[in-house]
Amino acid sequence: MSLREILKYPDKRLRKKCEPVGKIDNKILKLLDDLADTMYKAPGVGLAAPQVGENLRIIVVDVSTKEEDNNLLELINPVISKSGGKQDSEEGCLSIPGFYSNITRKNSIVVEALDRKGNEINIEADDLLSRVLQHEIDHLDGILFFDKMAKLKKELFIKKIDKAFR
Ligand code: NI
Repeated sequence: MSLREILKYPDKRLRKKCEPVGKIDNKILKLLDDLADTMYKAPGVGLAAPQVGENLRIIVVDVSTKEEDNNLLELINPVISKSGGKQDSEEGCLSIPGFYSNITRKNSIVVEALDRKGNEINIEADDLLSRVLQHEIDHLDGILFFDKMAKLKKELFIKKIDKAFR
């Protein structure tokens, strides 16, 4: 088990567009393990590679509750291929700890990705799982959740986090 440091806002590495994974080698498998360990330790329901300083299109997600078995999703090069509906709920980010806001997102999505064996997988998600997948996939394009807010609300939020993470 290997924990990685989670980069905090306003680290510039959180704003980069990530590169697709070419070959799934041991380095990528180790990164998947580290991401899951780091996410569970935080604890969080999702983590993207750029949050630990790796500029690669990889995310891990697990929205299961304590009563359920772990349901870890490890997604390489994830792409949202379908989306519909709307949901509005409170959201936070391990890279901006302590700050939350209501964010509007698609309710239902289909994500296409590769698993750790290189198999193509399709995930149909709605509600919380859909929200977390959208949040983590946004990280791969350097997008943070407050980017989704309306202009004035966003300006106020940025003022608050700029003060907190200065
Ligand atoms: Ni996040």
